[in-house]
Amino acid sequence: MDRYVVFGNPIGHSKSPMIHKLFAEQTGQSLDYSTLLAPLDDFSGCATSFFQEGRGANVTVPFKEDAYRLANSLTDRAQRAGAVNTLSKLADGTLLGDNTDGAGLVRDLTVNAGFSLTGKRVLLLGAGGAVRGALEPLLAEKPASVIIANRTVDKAELLAELFCDLGPVSASGYDWLREPVDVIINATSASLTGDVPPIAESLIEPGQTLCYDMMYSKEPTAFCRWASEHGAGVVMDGLGMLAEQAAEAFFLWRGVRPDTAPVLAELRRQLAL
Ligand code: ATR
Repeated sequence: MDRYVVFGNPIGHSKSPMIHKLFAEQTGQSLDYSTLLAPLDDFSGCATSFFQEGRGANVTVPFKEDAYRLANSLTDRAQRAGAVNTLSKLADGTLLGDNTDGAGLVRDLTVNAGFSLTGKRVLLLGAGGAVRGALEPLLAEKPASVIIANRTVDKAELLAELFCDLGPVSASGYDWLREPVDVIINATSASLTGDVPPIAESLIEPGQTLCYDMMYSKEPTAFCRWASEHGAGVVMDGLGMLAEQAAEAFFLWRGVRPDTAPVLAELRRQLAL
C-alpha cells in the first residue's frame, strides 16, 4: 500500500492522519497515512530514509524550512513561501516540494465562505511563516490591496519587498491603521496566549468586514471573540484552512480532489467533544 506520513516534532496530536483516512475512504484510494516523529537535529536523514519506500509526506512545525532545503524541485508557491508543507516523490525518485497552506486559506475563503477576494482591501496581521505562505495565493486573487501589519515592522517591510512584484502589497505597524478594510486575517501566534494584536476596532466595518483567524480551538479564539464583539460581518477560524491544505496535498499526490465538507464537519464535531 502507498505510504504517506506527516513529519513534525511534536506530532502526537496531528489531525492529518484522520483527515487523509477520511479523504481516502471517500475517494476509494488505497493508502496508508501515519505520523512520523522526526528528531529535531535530523529531519533530512529521517525523511530520506522514509522516502526509500514512501510516496509523499506532509511537514509541520518545526521542519517546513528543512523540507524546503531537502526538496529537489519546488512549486512556485513553495519557492515564494520559503517553506514546504508537502513533499511528493516523483517518478524519477526525486522530491517535489509544495506549499498548500496559502491555497488552503484562499479556498476556505473563496469556496467554503463564498467570499471573493478580488478588488478587496486585505489586512494581514503578522509577518512570520504563516503570512509568507499565504501571500502568493492571496495576491493571485487580485485584491485591491494587501497590508501586512506586524509588531516588528521591519519583518513586514521585508515581506512586502519580497512580494511586491506580485501585487499591491505594503507594510505597516498595528497602530498606524484606522480606515476600515474588507478582510482581516490573523496570522500571528497571539491567540495561543489569548492575546489579540493591538489594532483599532475602526478597521472593522460593522456587518461587512470578514475576520479570519488561522488558529482554531474548541472555544472561539481571542481574535474571533474580538471580531464578533466589534460587529464583524463574518468570523471564521482556521479549521477550514486545515482541511483545505490537506485536500490540496491529497490532490497533488493522488490526482483526485476530495470533498472537504464532510471532513470539516467531522473535524468540527471532534473539536467540540
Ligand atoms: P508562524 O510560522 O506561525 O507565522 P512565527 O514565524 O513565529 O510563526 O511568527 C509569529 C508571528 O506572530 C509574528 O508576526 C509575531 O510578531 P513579531 O514578528 O513582532 O514577533 C506574531 N506574534 C506573536 N505573538 C504576538 C503577540 N502577542 N502580539 C502580536 N503579535 C504576535
